[in-house]
Amino acid sequence: MKAQQMFQESIDNKEQFWADQARNIKWSAFPENILSEDENGYPQWFADGKLNMSYLCIDKHIEDGFGEQIAVIYDSPVTGKQQKFTFNQLKDEVSKLAGGLKSLGLEKGDTAVLYMPMIPQTLFTMLACARIGIIHNVVFGGFAPHELVVRIDDCKPKVLITATAGVEIARRIPYLPLVEKAIELSQDKVEHIIVYNRQLIDNKHEYFEGTIDYQDLVNQSAPADYVEVESNHPLYLLYTSGTTGKPKGVVRDTGGYATAMKFSMKYHYGIKEGETFWAASDFGWAVGHSYMVYGPLINRNTTIVFEGKPVMTPDAGTFWRVISEHKVNTMFTAPTAIRAIKKEDPNGDLIKKYDLSHYKKQFLAGERCDVATLDWFDEHLGIPAIDHWWQTESGSPMLGLLTYFEDYQIKRASAGKPIPGYEIMIFDENGYELDAHHEGFLVIKLPLAPGALLGIWNDFPRFKSGYLSQFPGYYFSGDGAIKDEDGYVFVTGRVDDVINVAGHRLSTSEMEEVVSSNPDIAECAVVGIEDQLKGQIPVAIAVTKAGVSKDEKQIEKEIVALVREKIGAVASLKNVMIVNRLPKTRSGKILRKLLRTMLDGKEFQIPSTIDDETIVEEIREKIKIYPF
Ligand code: COA
Ligand code: AMP
Repeated sequence: MKAQQMFQESIDNKEQFWADQARNIKWSAFPENILSEDENGYPQWFADGKLNMSYLCIDKHIEDGFGEQIAVIYDSPVTGKQQKFTFNQLKDEVSKLAGGLKSLGLEKGDTAVLYMPMIPQTLFTMLACARIGIIHNVVFGGFAPHELVVRIDDCKPKVLITATAGVEIARRIPYLPLVEKAIELSQDKVEHIIVYNRQLIDNKHEYFEGTIDYQDLVNQSAPADYVEVESNHPLYLLYTSGTTGKPKGVVRDTGGYATAMKFSMKYHYGIKEGETFWAASDFGWAVGHSYMVYGPLINRNTTIVFEGKPVMTPDAGTFWRVISEHKVNTMFTAPTAIRAIKKEDPNGDLIKKYDLSHYKKQFLAGERCDVATLDWFDEHLGIPAIDHWWQTESGSPMLGLLTYFEDYQIKRASAGKPIPGYEIMIFDENGYELDAHHEGFLVIKLPLAPGALLGIWNDFPRFKSGYLSQFPGYYFSGDGAIKDEDGYVFVTGRVDDVINVAGHRLSTSEMEEVVSSNPDIAECAVVGIEDQLKGQIPVAIAVTKAGVSKDEKQIEKEIVALVREKIGAVASLKNVMIVNRLPKTRSGKILRKLLRTMLDGKEFQIPSTIDDETIVEEIREKIKIYPF
């Protein structure tokens, strides 16, 4: 079956198609009810199936005789450490940790928050939770305590698992003071805190009372066997930015997701069992969950846990060194990583140092990929660079190319064609499908494919209002796009308050809330402007309260520090422009698009709804004196 035929089959005979795909994983009870509705009337897949994800990622391969295959390679240029773990070793560690969690009284359905760096223990903990039906929520290490508090209060974990430190190139980031602060601020009290001691820093003053040592827990615990869970049992929650300040907890199921992971590894990434797959991301993002842990392991691929950056660890050749040393067959990263390498090594000199003969395909996603980066990649690497599009919500690609079929055709600047199960359309604001080459809203006809979100944790109304009510019967992605006559889709960017900074999804409204909480600020707007390296970066445009006479530079410094303290360094807010007033419509809405276009130095039209045109000149004058 060829790609187009497979896609059509997935739409015309969806139940049969996904039942067939589901047979590629092992269930303890294969579902009879393939497609049904949940209590809110939202479509759900495989409702009466039963299985266990940890079993599929570990035990199944041991049963099949691959216990001695390397499952995980930890490569950490920032600490000079490398470790390899076979599936047998993975089972030993994961089942003992699961036993340890059980001994603390954790049971199926409880939640666990993980605030962990890029170490294999994070992957072990995710799989240990999955083994006994604990729903994990990994929080990205670059987020500040406040972000941890929001998640703790929303998902009410019984246990928080962390490590003593993260490493950002040469900087050690002690986690425990951050965790301690979050625990202090959260309303919901976590019962247990488990700490993995990395022995990278002096911990004496950082171990606070009542913590359990990760390694002791593993060493002292009896292995726990996996438990079978219902297909719709949540495997994990992953919070992501939306249009309001509060992050939303995307709920991932088990059975649909396991099916989608196996399907995408085989057909989209086109990788065979036993080969090495590397996603250079972070456990805290959707890519980290799907393509550093569950996808490669369910497909019996060796996965790489890389603790470093594309540059400076120690140089811009580090990706090529890892690919060569571990014989990586297929790699996945965000375009920003390639841009960072291209900037440091424009002639690709470092690439030539390595044997890259195993390296067959490069996948890119997370943000729009510019053609100049693709050109550089083609010139210096000479293997296909395949853009594809998805979201935390889907958990796996929605646009891409089924590279399993070798006749796939890349179209530059396009994120590919709809992946089986995702009937993607481009709508105008009234819900009419647009013709080819017209830009509109990217929507997907329900049901979404297996593995896409079950909803927002404990908040169906928010799920409905954020995704389902704009165009009844369709999921609204939040992205704009154009389709061409061949069915290729070109994603043009978010149409809401979400921005993408170095492949990290951030909310400008959340940043606005933080900026406005500065006592000198009367009101503000945060917009994402274009950046050569990170794709986008946020800029705050703020108005001070009457009577504030503080130096503008000082206010800027305080706001930058506040955003770093409340959201985290990853927000990358470095620029604040103080203005006398913000451009608004006559009904009082801030004209953010106008600000963004002006800051990008692009041509703009003054909206007819503006309440006072002279403000445009004021802003233009201000932009001239700001260095961005
Ligand atoms: N813990 C603590 N701090 C972190 C962190 C973490 N896990 N991750 C990032 N940060 C910090 C960085 O140190 C940086 O701090 P600084 O402002 O003090 O320098 C800040 O957050 C911004 O990080 P980032 O936007 O990643 O910028 P960078 O300059 O450190 O690196 C790239 C730029 C392009 C090299 C980097 O973003 C990268 O490798 N991206 C790859 C793509 C990727 O991982 N995408 C994720 C989804 S696929
Ligand atoms: P996240 O949920 O963090 O994976 O971010 C999802 C968002 O990233 C999407 O809604 C898009 O805005 C953006 N995105 C992801 N992949 C691409 C891509 N290939 N091209 C353009 N934008 C992308």
